[in-house]
Amino acid sequence: MSVKINYSKKNHDKSNLNLVIFCNDKFNTNPIKKYLSKTELNYVDELLKNSDLKKNLLIFEISSKKKIILVSAKNDFKRSDIENLGADLYKCINNLKSSDYYIISDSVILKNVDFLGYFLHGVVLKSYEFKKYKSKKDIKNITLNIVGSKNKPSSQSQLKFKALEEGTFYTRDLVSEPGNILHPDEYAKRLSSLKKDGLKVTILDEKKLKKLGMHSLLGVGAGSVRGSYLVTMEWNGAKNKSQPLAFVGKGVTFDTGGYSLKPARFMEDMTYDMAGSAAVVGLMKTLALRKAKINAVGVVGLVENMVSGNAQRPGDIVKSYSGKTIEVLNTDAEGRLVLADALTFTEKKFKPKFIIDLATLTGAIIVSLGSEYAGLFSNNDKLSSQIIEAGKHVEEKLWRMPLHKNYDKLINSKNADMQNINYVGGAGSTTAAQFLQRFILNKTPWAHLDIAGMAFSKYGGSLNSGGATGFGVRLLNQLIEENYE
Ligand code: BES
Ligand code: MN
Ligand code: ZN
Repeated sequence: MSVKINYSKKNHDKSNLNLVIFCNDKFNTNPIKKYLSKTELNYVDELLKNSDLKKNLLIFEISSKKKIILVSAKNDFKRSDIENLGADLYKCINNLKSSDYYIISDSVILKNVDFLGYFLHGVVLKSYEFKKYKSKKDIKNITLNIVGSKNKPSSQSQLKFKALEEGTFYTRDLVSEPGNILHPDEYAKRLSSLKKDGLKVTILDEKKLKKLGMHSLLGVGAGSVRGSYLVTMEWNGAKNKSQPLAFVGKGVTFDTGGYSLKPARFMEDMTYDMAGSAAVVGLMKTLALRKAKINAVGVVGLVENMVSGNAQRPGDIVKSYSGKTIEVLNTDAEGRLVLADALTFTEKKFKPKFIIDLATLTGAIIVSLGSEYAGLFSNNDKLSSQIIEAGKHVEEKLWRMPLHKNYDKLINSKNADMQNINYVGGAGSTTAAQFLQRFILNKTPWAHLDIAGMAFSKYGGSLNSGGATGFGVRLLNQLIEENYE
């Protein structure tokens, strides 16, 4: 469904329109009776006697042409409750035939100044669908007309929500694309087009990566007929030259596992193994669109993990950009190999205030946390609590997991400085994070978000209707807004 929001100023004749009316939390019709005819009011009052008033939303069918939807605007609702309320409205109108609705938001006093903004944001986020490859697209176009201006979001808020929606949808689009379309060559090309939003985009291709010595990243892409890339996207929105905030993403456009081949039922999901990078891209787009007053840089490693005569073998030893050598015991533990070089490069080149990386890194994080929390690993308590707090506000939740030097022995190698998997000892997500930490060379505050369980939703979540979730975009935008802007 595609949702258009229209802030009309006209005074409509409401007799034949679908109305969405905000009420107080007991669905008291007294404050809203001026929007209803006498018969409608009687009808609604009568039905209310037998309605479940604990619900957030009640729908009344006045005629085949007219529905009245009452929305209970509870005063103690926090941001995520309000967004979820918007998602409830989406679910309700998605089942109806009409395409035009008139939202009366002036009817009650809304305590939260951004109530209407969050509400509409929830409707829009929930409405996303990926129908690009359906011959019959049957996309419903819905217009939500906002009546009255008392609770209208400021133009600044409107811009912010729009930027967040566009960034999140861009991430979802990228994650939804299959591996045959969004391979590294195509991905790099699409990122180049972000220049039009005001980002400075730099694409390092294989030739340049070889020169820089990024053999850890290059080894993963060696079996692919496509190129491997490291792409940086810079946003300079601060007036001064302050240190940027850095975001790094895993962009494995398809993960077969390489010679450590995945079984079919695990491989078929691996089109979303670039979701970490897509979140970074969507975030950078959002920052540019809303002209955030900060400096930030996004860095993504784009590779395809395939098998061929050129692919790397289990047991290969590669030298990373940091100079450290890695024994690649398992070619399916490839994300950490890509991030290793991306992290060292980001720290050295941009000297950022902090580095946050996002990656669909381990199946083990799904065993630990399922699809409710992303795993958070960090060398910095303050950064960790800022991320967790921001996550609570946008309902993209994180759970902190441990790093500890005692895990190091599990990834030390006889033949190289380290190996890319541990055969014994468990803690698959922690050892992966512990591996990444070795590539932060100058103690930069760093956090790693393992989003393997969060990037794609089989059943749909509160603010998505299934498929790519866009996890990370709203989280990191919120982190920036709350602490760094
Ligand atoms: N991309 C996978 C992790 C993954 C699994 C993401 C399921 C999303 C859903 C990653 O590259 C991988 O294959 N990890 C291995 C690591 C192992 C070989 C140490 C895993 O989790 O099995
Ligand atoms: Mn893998
Ligand atoms: Zn992977």
